[in-house]
Amino acid sequence: MFKFYYFKTLASTNDKAKEFSGKGLSKIVVIAEKQTKGKGRFKRKWVSSLGGLYMTIVLKEKDIEKVKYLTLISSIAVAKTIIKISNLKAKVKWPNDVLVNDKKICGILTETISGKENYVLIGIGVNINNKKFPKNINATSLIMETNKNYDINKIIKIIIKEFNSLYKYYKTNNYKKIINIWKKYSHTLRRKIRAKTLSGVYTGKAVGIDKDCNLILKLNNGKLKKIVEGDIFTV
Ligand code: BTN
Repeated sequence: MFKFYYFKTLASTNDKAKEFSGKGLSKIVVIAEKQTKGKGRFKRKWVSSLGGLYMTIVLKEKDIEKVKYLTLISSIAVAKTIIKISNLKAKVKWPNDVLVNDKKICGILTETISGKENYVLIGIGVNINNKKFPKNINATSLIMETNKNYDINKIIKIIIKEFNSLYKYYKTNNYKKIINIWKKYSHTLRRKIRAKTLSGVYTGKAVGIDKDCNLILKLNNGKLKKIVEGDIFTV
């Protein structure tokens, strides 16, 4: 089972998690009530005031080639938890977000440390009882959607329980099963998408996700385009 480490304030739970992994700790969850240097993908800032959920799962893994599946599992675990506790229709957005009513409620930053032993750090931020977000993000929180306050520690426990029950598919290399569950909760599939990647911007219909967790777009000219990394927007 997972061991939990609680902090009032951290720069970033991912950074603390990195420190713990350096000491050989694994199957732990690092939690902070707030962060002073919360990090998002592509070196963005993750505003981390009181009322949000900030945690990082630390796992020692032999093989980190399939690490993207751990991000998928985490987003499914968050979506399932939100559905359970609030009845909201939470959905997963490729590659690492959870949306409620088309707005971002959760972001995930997965980092890997490779060496003699490999570690995966899955940083999860969920907007719970907080209401203020940067203007340029189309964000929401549980309190904004339901007008209710939530017990963040209880939510953490449920997310970890859900994560654990999906993690068994990862451990047994049952990646197909993960993709199938992800599809059930997907906000992305079958929508018209604009993908901003390092190599350019592509617009098309999201028709699938391949065995390496890449998003497959059917472009307007009928060709299929594999999106490996980037941000996607519905158009
Ligand atoms: C994103 O959407 O860009 C990912 C955001 C990830 C934020 C979480 S909050 C807990 C953990 N610690 C961090 O510094 N970042 C992640």
